[in-house]
Amino acid sequence: MARAAREQWSTRAGFVLAAVGSAVGLGNMWRFSYLTAENGGAAFVLLYVAMTLLVGLPVLLAELVVGRGARQSPIGALARYGGSRWRALGFLFVAAGFLILAYYSVIAGWTVRYALVGLLMGFDGDAGERFGQLATGPRALFWHLLFMVLTAGLVMGGVRRGIERASLVLMPLLFAIVVGLAVYAATLPGAEAGYRYYFQPSFEELLDVRVLRDAAGQAFFSLSLGMGAMLTYASYLSRDTHLPAESAVIAGADFAVAFVAGLVVFPMLFAFGLEGEVGESTVGALFITLPHAFAEMGGAGRVVGIFFFVSLVVGALTSAISLFEVVVSSLMDAADFERAHASLLLGTVVALLGVPAASDLDVLGAMDTLAGNVLLLVGGLGLALFVGWRMDDPVAEAAAGASGIRWFGLWRRLLRYAVPAVLGLVLWFAREDTLGALAALAGAGG
Ligand code: PFF
Repeated sequence: MARAAREQWSTRAGFVLAAVGSAVGLGNMWRFSYLTAENGGAAFVLLYVAMTLLVGLPVLLAELVVGRGARQSPIGALARYGGSRWRALGFLFVAAGFLILAYYSVIAGWTVRYALVGLLMGFDGDAGERFGQLATGPRALFWHLLFMVLTAGLVMGGVRRGIERASLVLMPLLFAIVVGLAVYAATLPGAEAGYRYYFQPSFEELLDVRVLRDAAGQAFFSLSLGMGAMLTYASYLSRDTHLPAESAVIAGADFAVAFVAGLVVFPMLFAFGLEGEVGESTVGALFITLPHAFAEMGGAGRVVGIFFFVSLVVGALTSAISLFEVVVSSLMDAADFERAHASLLLGTVVALLGVPAASDLDVLGAMDTLAGNVLLLVGGLGLALFVGWRMDDPVAEAAAGASGIRWFGLWRRLLRYAVPAVLGLVLWFAREDTLGALAALAGAGG
C-alpha cells in the first residue's frame, strides 16, 4: 500500500503554537515550582535560565534541524543521518516517551479532577488530606484513564486537525489565564515575601552541583528535549522555516510561562502562610497548598482556582499530545501502523504503565527523577554528540530558510564541547539519584 504523503503544519503559527504547547505544561507549573521550592528559590531560577541558554537552546535547534531535515520520526531520522547504529538513540527516546507519559498522565489526571471538582463543589480547606485520598488508588487511576482517552482522541485527529487546532485555541487561553492569575496574586496582602523568595538568590545554592543538575534536568524537561518530541514536530515542517527564530520563540514562551507561574505560586504561598507545607510532599506541593489557599479565599478563590486548574489541564494536554505523537509517529513510520491504530494501542499500553504511578507517590517521584534527571539528559547528550560530530554539515541544514544568521559556528561548538561537558558532569553527579530511583522502581515492581 502506498504510504500517504507526510502531513504538514498548515501555518507557521500552527507549528509554533504546537511546539510551545509541547514545551508549556505541568513542567512549567508543577515541576518548576516544586523544584524552585526545593532548591532555594532564586538561585535555582538563575541556574535554570543559564542551563536553558547554554544547553537547552542548542539542543532544541539540533532537534529541529534533524527532524525537519529527515522528515521522519526519531528512529528513522537518526538512522538516516548517522547509520543504523544510531537507531538505538531513537529507541531510547521512545522509551523515555513511554515512561514520562505514564506518570505525566497521572498528574494530569489530578489536574482534571481538581478543575472539575472545583467547578462543581469548590475547594476543600483540608487540602492535604484530600490530596492523600485522591493522589493514588482507584480515583487516581480513573482520572489517569480519562486523561489518556482525551490525549489519544486528539492525536487520532492527526497533525492539522487534532494537534494544531487544539494548540491554536488552548495555548492563548493558557497564557491569558496564567497572566490574569499573576496579576491577582500581586494584589494579595503579604505577597512581597513570596517575591523576595523568588527573586533573591542565596549564593550557597548557586554553588551546589545538585541544584545545577536539577536546573539542567528542568531545562530539558520544560523544553520537551532529549526524547525527540521537538524532532517529531519539526518533521512536519517545510524547508523554508527559519529554525533559529522558531527555537528562540519556543524557548522564550516556555520560560515566560514558567516565570509567570512562579509569580502566581510564590506570592500565594507566602500570602497564605503555606510556605512551610511545600517541603512535606514535594511532588504534591502544588496540589496541596494551592487548593488550601483557594479554599481560604472564599468565593473568589473558587473562581481563581478553577482558572488555575483549567490552565494546568490545558498545558498538560498539549504536552501529553507531543509525548504521544513521538511514539505514534514512530509506529506509523517504522511499523506502517495507521494513526488510529497506533493511537489506540499506545493509549492502552500507557494506561497500564500508569498503574504503578497511580498507586504509589514514591514510584511516581522516582519515575520523574529517572526521566527528568537521567533519560532526557542522556538523550540530549546523545543528540548533541550526534549533531555536533556525526551528522554531515548540520550547519547547512540549519541555515536552510534562515539567511543571514551569524551564530551557527557557535552553535556547533556548543554542541560539540559545552553541551556534552555540562551534561556529562551533571549525569555523573546524578548517579546516586539514578540508582536510588531505579531501586525505588524495582522495589515497587517486585
Ligand atoms: N515540556 C513538558 C512540560 O513542561 O510539561 C513535558 C514534556 C513534554 C517533556 C514532551 C518531554 C516531552 F517530550
